[in-house]
Amino acid sequence: MNSVEKAIDKNYDTVIGGVELLDKAAEYIRRGELVAFPTETVYGLGADAFNEEAVRNIFIAKGRPQDNPFIVHVASPEGAKAAVSYIPDEAYRLWEKFSPGPLTIVLPKSAKMPLITTGGLRTVGIRIPNNKIALELIRRSGCAIAAPSANTSGRISPTRATDVYEDMRGKIPLILDGGPSKVGIESTVIDLTREVPTVLRPGAITAEMLAEVLGEVVNHKGKVVVAAAPGMKYKHYAPVVPCIGARTPETAEKIASRYLSPVIMGESSFISAITGVPTIDMGTTPEECMRNVFSEMRDAEKVYSCIVIEDFSTKPEYYALNNRLSKSTGGKTE
Ligand code: TXA
Ligand code: MG
Repeated sequence: MNSVEKAIDKNYDTVIGGVELLDKAAEYIRRGELVAFPTETVYGLGADAFNEEAVRNIFIAKGRPQDNPFIVHVASPEGAKAAVSYIPDEAYRLWEKFSPGPLTIVLPKSAKMPLITTGGLRTVGIRIPNNKIALELIRRSGCAIAAPSANTSGRISPTRATDVYEDMRGKIPLILDGGPSKVGIESTVIDLTREVPTVLRPGAITAEMLAEVLGEVVNHKGKVVVAAAPGMKYKHYAPVVPCIGARTPETAEKIASRYLSPVIMGESSFISAITGVPTIDMGTTPEECMRNVFSEMRDAEKVYSCIVIEDFSTKPEYYALNNRLSKSTGGKTE
């Protein structure tokens, strides 16, 4: 019996369920069966990426041509190591900013990675999905999971477990239900094996966002996109006096105590926790803080001998602001 016949022969009684089915799902993956699972983009139809027969069954279940590469899902950069032969620094920088998240990074494949998984290519797309069930499935199965969207080839990508059921009923044993996908369109794909990093498929993480990290990327239309602020790699936006980041009001005060006439800058709630040191209240929202940051720094450097500034790196809504501040501090933060 060839694998097409075997897949049809099985005619599964497909089950749908949540976290309570995770162990079972992981066991299926280890055994070379297919499992559909949620991700933040769309639902995936997963198999052990290193098991050629399991991967072949994805093509069969989807009715998809065999020259299409699958994205390989891992739980961490560490998990990518068996799948790829080389991880450039750019990949780590992207993971640091965007992972887990809707980004697939194309890298040179390892010798161990079967060609059937990569559609015959010598490269492989790696993704760390931002979904607890997906990450847990990868961890518990101990595999890297190859997964295209869990729809029949040519149909609309599924963003709910019931969508997957419509297309995959009887063809796979299990569908993990994680509720509706939060992003709703497939991941951005960026190829780091080219001379200039190139976006192959646009997605929620834009070419502009990628250029901010990499300096320059080619977008999916072939146009070069450079970082909005040129010279991102260098210390820009630097005040003429020492400028140091502080993660908490307490560390801000500690840093300030080393200088003769320091000032502490931050958003309102941070500033309200400071006593005994001059402060500059930047505002209560990211918009307000962004609007004020440069003028306040210019004013402050004329008056004070050191600027201690709140480190916003744990507040995603202050992403753009923190990007600029990390240039001002040259990454110095305590
Ligand atoms: O959001 C997503 O990426 C979803 C979820 C399940 O993770 N997956 C997904 O897979 O959209 P799929 O098979 O529908 O799309 C895979 C696409 C390929 O068509 C290709 O554009 C790109 O990803 N891709 C994958 N590996 C590649 C490689 N080695 N080189 C170039 N492009 C690759
Ligand atoms: Mg698809």
